[in-house]
Amino acid sequence: MIENEMDFEGRLAAPEYSPEDSEIENSLRPKQLDDYIGQEKAKENLRVYIKAARLRGEPLDHVLLYGPPGLGKTTLAGIVANEMGVNIRITSGPAIEKQGDLVAILSNLESGDVLFIDEIHRLNRTVEEILYPAMEDGKIDIIIGKGPSARSYQLSLPKFTLIGATTRAGQISAPLRDRFGVILRLEMYKPEELAKIVKRSSKILNIPIEDNGALQIAGRSRGTPRIANRLLKRARDFAEVKYDGVITDEAANEALRSMEIDGLGLDSIDRRLLTTMIRNYNGGPVGLETIAAAIGEESVTIEDVYEPYLMQIGFLARTPRGRCVTPAGYQHLGIQFNPGGNGDIQQKLDL
Ligand code: ADE
Repeated sequence: MIENEMDFEGRLAAPEYSPEDSEIENSLRPKQLDDYIGQEKAKENLRVYIKAARLRGEPLDHVLLYGPPGLGKTTLAGIVANEMGVNIRITSGPAIEKQGDLVAILSNLESGDVLFIDEIHRLNRTVEEILYPAMEDGKIDIIIGKGPSARSYQLSLPKFTLIGATTRAGQISAPLRDRFGVILRLEMYKPEELAKIVKRSSKILNIPIEDNGALQIAGRSRGTPRIANRLLKRARDFAEVKYDGVITDEAANEALRSMEIDGLGLDSIDRRLLTTMIRNYNGGPVGLETIAAAIGEESVTIEDVYEPYLMQIGFLARTPRGRCVTPAGYQHLGIQFNPGGNGDIQQKLDL
């Protein structure tokens, strides 16, 4: 049900959904806040808001979740619906093409339901305009007919909670953003949290895993549960075929090596991005569009998918004059950082 128009090219370290993921991913999703690992701040706040709404017998206020892909926005929306004891209807910004599509969705909600709109920053403006009065007053204005015979009707909606998710909070229009009572930012996960998620998932998948196997996978999942769970499935394949059905340190290592995922979780595309910047553009500064053309990826994919982790681990910096590979990035790739040949890094990073 979740749209995804990004191009995966079978990338195992991609944080987006692939069609084969969705069924298993659903079985791995926690259904209650207590089973959801990490995101302590968001969880703590949500727990209070949910309890307060339940005490008042009201639906939860509208919630905006933002942060990089794969961190559990859909999972959290499902948990909110579950804890509020209501249904969830899942859709996405690009799937709602016309005002009529949204009117149909809204008018089919039952009282208190959660409507989850993924990639909400991609809603078109005319659709967004329907959402404003729906969120604020529970009403929508619809015009039926054209020209002089056109008639305007107002439709009252059941009370509902909109949960919007976005990787790009900055692209949400101010009027839409202002209508969310709760705005939560999801952070990348720490390796210890990911190891717990991997262990929980392996229990559900019925595959024994050693602590070091879980840590291997966790440390190379780019802070992202969706990637950790995907790598776990590949490690399970290796464990079942070559390691007596147990994910040992070695089994996990072999699986990760086979996928060309290095010790920090970078895959061949991450490494190509960094080496292209170093070899062709002296490590930067280089513009996003130039990098995108050089490695044959969409610039939005680079921005949303590759850059957040590379920046988080300090291998890439965004400066007003373009992107730069940092000395740590050079070091990881085993390429000599040469300030003379590459320009002074202090100057490059505008420090
Ligand atoms: N599976 C995916 N994300 C999870 C999380 N945050 N906690 C537990 N299991 C998960």
